[in-house]
Amino acid sequence: MIIGVPKEIKEHEYRVGLLPVGVEELRRAGHVVLIESGAGAGSGLADEDYRRHGATIVDERERIWGESKLLVKVKEPQPDELMLIQSGQLVFCYFHFAANQPLTRGLLDSGATAIAYETLRDDSGRRPLLTPMSEVAGRMSIQEGAKCLERPQEGRGILLGGVPGVEPAHVVILGGGVVGSNAAKIAAGMGANVVMLDVNLDRLRFLDEVMPPNVTTLYSDRHTIRQQLQLADLVIGAVLIEGARAPMLVERGDLTSMKSAAVIVDVAIDQGGCVETSRPTTHGQPTFVIDGVVHYCVTNMPGAVGRTSTYALCNATLPFVLTLAAESLPAAAHRDPRIVSAVNVHQGHVTNHAVAETFGLSHVPYAS
Ligand SMILES: NC(=O)c1ccc[n+]([C@@H]2O[C@H](COP(=O)([O-])OP(=O)(O)OC[C@H]3O[C@@H](n4cnc5c(N)ncnc54)[C@H](O)[C@@H]3O)[C@@H](O)[C@H]2O)c1
Repeated sequence: MIIGVPKEIKEHEYRVGLLPVGVEELRRAGHVVLIESGAGAGSGLADEDYRRHGATIVDERERIWGESKLLVKVKEPQPDELMLIQSGQLVFCYFHFAANQPLTRGLLDSGATAIAYETLRDDSGRRPLLTPMSEVAGRMSIQEGAKCLERPQEGRGILLGGVPGVEPAHVVILGGGVVGSNAAKIAAGMGANVVMLDVNLDRLRFLDEVMPPNVTTLYSDRHTIRQQLQLADLVIGAVLIEGARAPMLVERGDLTSMKSAAVIVDVAIDQGGCVETSRPTTHGQPTFVIDGVVHYCVTNMPGAVGRTSTYALCNATLPFVLTLAAESLPAAAHRDPRIVSAVNVHQGHVTNHAVAETFGLSHVPYAS
């Protein structure tokens, strides 16, 4: 099979869909790999690294899209790329269709098959291709939050870990899932006082067992959230309700009770955010201030640490790339049923229930 890896063209996106080791594995299995020139540059991977492991480096994006049967990407196809997709192609990347009607329409019209990282599920309901990016965003939320707390970034001028004789920052984490637990680990390691809130008591029990002593777990209700917001120097928004908009846990009125120049990093912004005053921002201009509180709401946080994120993502995606390349889609889906959960659009039909419901389209389940 011919596998194509285009250079990402979304703003401030530095990741790439395949590592040189992925090229080597695919070549060993007898496939041809086309890599667009410069595709790995944002992640510190030169064309030569790919060429050395058997890739063909291609200058023209049109040739990658024109010749490949399987396209391996990171972000959803941009409008310029939508025009290049061909009927019968398999496109494997993040799509987040429910947030993008023109993209859904474009894929339906193309006749291609969209296999979405974000909906791929294993037997226990975990999302193995989403988890690595939540791990990156969770860890990064503390790094970014710590920076925002510095006075030149309009923060309170607080060092996260304090120093001997001066108390550390109080960090409040809303949601104790993948993002929340990774944030807590880093904040605790830097010496902050950390409080994690969640509505899942079993999750809180687990976190209480595994987290260090400077992490406290609390049940997430309106009273506790209000109390904690008053104490917080840094708030991390890390909640998720499967398939739904993020719950609004911090209301506009709550900001006035917070310390002046406190910081909110709303990681859940890609699902609408869990703070009423949040709105999406970019790495170019990541923050804004409302009622004296600094808001950081970047929707693609992992994109900024392209090298770490590319390795984390490709570690998880490569086994599926190899399976998809090895045989026809029906045979691949039969061999690994997790692939069925990732097929969102196939031959002009929406095959994902939530996407169909969002746009009032008919749902035609994928049958391998
Ligand atoms: N901005 C970015 O670049 C970026 C990157 C990765 C992930 N994310 C987003 O971060 C969010 C969290 O992702 P995750 O992988 O940690 O999800 P997750 O499912 O692992 O964890 C979410 C947690 O929120 C908890 N929760 C639900 N309602 C709550 C409430 N009312 N109060 C407190 N906790 C509540 C759940 O019990 C769960 O433990 C998602 O919206 C995800 O899309 C954003």
